[in-house]
Amino acid sequence: GWGQGGGKLPFRAIAPVERTADVVTVPSGYDWAPIIRWGDPLFKNAPDFSLTRQSAAAQAGQFGYNNDYLNILADRGNARSGVLVANHEYTNEEIMFDPAWYAENTDEARRIAMAAHGFTVVEVKRRKAGQKWEYIRGGKRNRRITATTPFAVDGPAAGSELLRTKADPRGRRILGTLNNCAGGTTPWGTIISGEENFNQYFEGTGSATDARYGIAAEPSERGWEKVDPRFSARNEGFENEANRFGWIVEIDPQDPTSTPVKHTALGRFKHEGANIRIAADGRVVAYSGDDERFDYVYKFISKKKYRPGNRPHNMTLLSEGDLYVARFTGDSPAAEVDGSGGLPEDGNFDGTGAWLPLVVDGVSKVAGMSVEEVLVYTRLAGDKVGATKMDRPEDVEPNPVTGKVYIALTNNTNRGVGSNAGPDEANPRSRNRDGHVIELTERRHDAASLTFGWSILLVAGDPAKSESAYFAGFPRDKVSPISCPDNLAFDSRGNLWISTDGQPGTIGYCDALHKVDLTGPQRGRVRQFLAVPAGAETCGPVIHDRDDSVFVAVQHPGEGGTFAEPLSLFPDYVPARGREKRGQAFAPRPSVVQVYRTDAGRRGRHGKGSA
Ligand code: FEO
Ligand code: CA
Ligand code: CA
Ligand code: CA
Repeated sequence: GWGQGGGKLPFRAIAPVERTADVVTVPSGYDWAPIIRWGDPLFKNAPDFSLTRQSAAAQAGQFGYNNDYLNILADRGNARSGVLVANHEYTNEEIMFDPAWYAENTDEARRIAMAAHGFTVVEVKRRKAGQKWEYIRGGKRNRRITATTPFAVDGPAAGSELLRTKADPRGRRILGTLNNCAGGTTPWGTIISGEENFNQYFEGTGSATDARYGIAAEPSERGWEKVDPRFSARNEGFENEANRFGWIVEIDPQDPTSTPVKHTALGRFKHEGANIRIAADGRVVAYSGDDERFDYVYKFISKKKYRPGNRPHNMTLLSEGDLYVARFTGDSPAAEVDGSGGLPEDGNFDGTGAWLPLVVDGVSKVAGMSVEEVLVYTRLAGDKVGATKMDRPEDVEPNPVTGKVYIALTNNTNRGVGSNAGPDEANPRSRNRDGHVIELTERRHDAASLTFGWSILLVAGDPAKSESAYFAGFPRDKVSPISCPDNLAFDSRGNLWISTDGQPGTIGYCDALHKVDLTGPQRGRVRQFLAVPAGAETCGPVIHDRDDSVFVAVQHPGEGGTFAEPLSLFPDYVPARGREKRGQAFAPRPSVVQVYRTDAGRRGRHGKGSA
């Protein structure tokens, strides 16, 4: 069945996998293996993972929890070495810790959780191109960034009064990064990542701005304010600490001594991530979504231009520029967009749009808000200029082959409910459970244009059960069911790959990775490539089709279960009775997985992977 005329990564779509199945499922002719797992030691002096002997010191030298954004960067001129970069979005204390131990060691557990956030950079090697990567314990570029690592702040809001605290009276040095979700790799080889649901880590002030960001004036669930006073605005001098999160961060994975940066020029919101395209005139454009129901899609345009090969210069590009927010206008009568998801008479959910200015040439374009206020309270700026309220914008990713921009709107079950915004042509379903994907075409295909056209590529769902599921006109009975699109990626030919977050709760199947054709008669054809285990979300897809490999970050395997009754034992699949032996407890471990081609029919050492 490989046929298909020389394309790499040929596969037959797998069947969707029932949501309780604790297996990784890959197509026939492929196998999978973990490259690195939660707790694997990065440094020579870091201890081996032990579920029953965890400590914050150990975790700070080990791979963190809940890997999300991922990339594998091969070294220039050498296909056998490189670095793997992953971020660690959050922690699942209910699965990580024995409840009896947690009750006695709660503060240490909080410090472990803080050390399990952030980033890992780790060197990898392989015997030859196309084979499986292995991580190198003690690699020279290995690094952990955690909730306490110092970051520099740059851009127009650096030093602002809104960012100052008792511990940082200059407002230019922030400890840690939190809830890093998706991200991107810049053309100059750095990693950018979004601080997403940072609100949950803080006890807030009760102010209106805190409320707009979901920061509650009550103790946080994780209770970090009990071990570090900066996490509560009730502690004098730390009223602004939450303003220091919600940014795009940039790290240099080649230099473990470099100081990572928070870029205030890109605004503060629940950044899913950011992805870059170089405009016709050489300026760089960063697209970013704010993952909240009824929040916005943004883009940043740098002041300075990209200079190929000049890394120090290019690392300043995200420090200064203009910020815009998207308004989508449909071209069909509003009455034809009734919330059912049925297509309007012109046959498309489509229209035009504009990038509305927030900050241009260092000047605020928002009435009554200074530049610093626009950048720190960007959501309020978007409210004021009339940006379009979207169904939870996740990845916003330009196609490197065509320049078209794809926006994953993961879902919004509040659309059209009560006093919330009703359906519009860009968000056409009321109670949008399954989400959709917009294809945006910048005017003249120039990323720096301030107007665009758009159409909905996919209205997600299980076509066997959802009348509104729509696949760019491709026959509904010839696609894989898909729900809750989240992370986007492209292969070398510009095919779109979509990973999902939430399918178990909507269409009843384990989260998945799908390939979607974008051109020709197959446009809109969705084919499922893999499924992750029970409770897990598919993150960070990386498609190395020239290398016959796909990489995914398997996040929160077994979520929904408990330490005593895990839903998953991914990726090691130790028998349940092994858990009973003292000192040999096992839990699911978030891991980076490589999927690679095998000789047809061969089963790899991780036999469960070929189910
Ligand atoms: Fe962390 Fe928006 O997903
Ligand atoms: Ca995500
Ligand atoms: Ca239309
Ligand atoms: Ca998500």
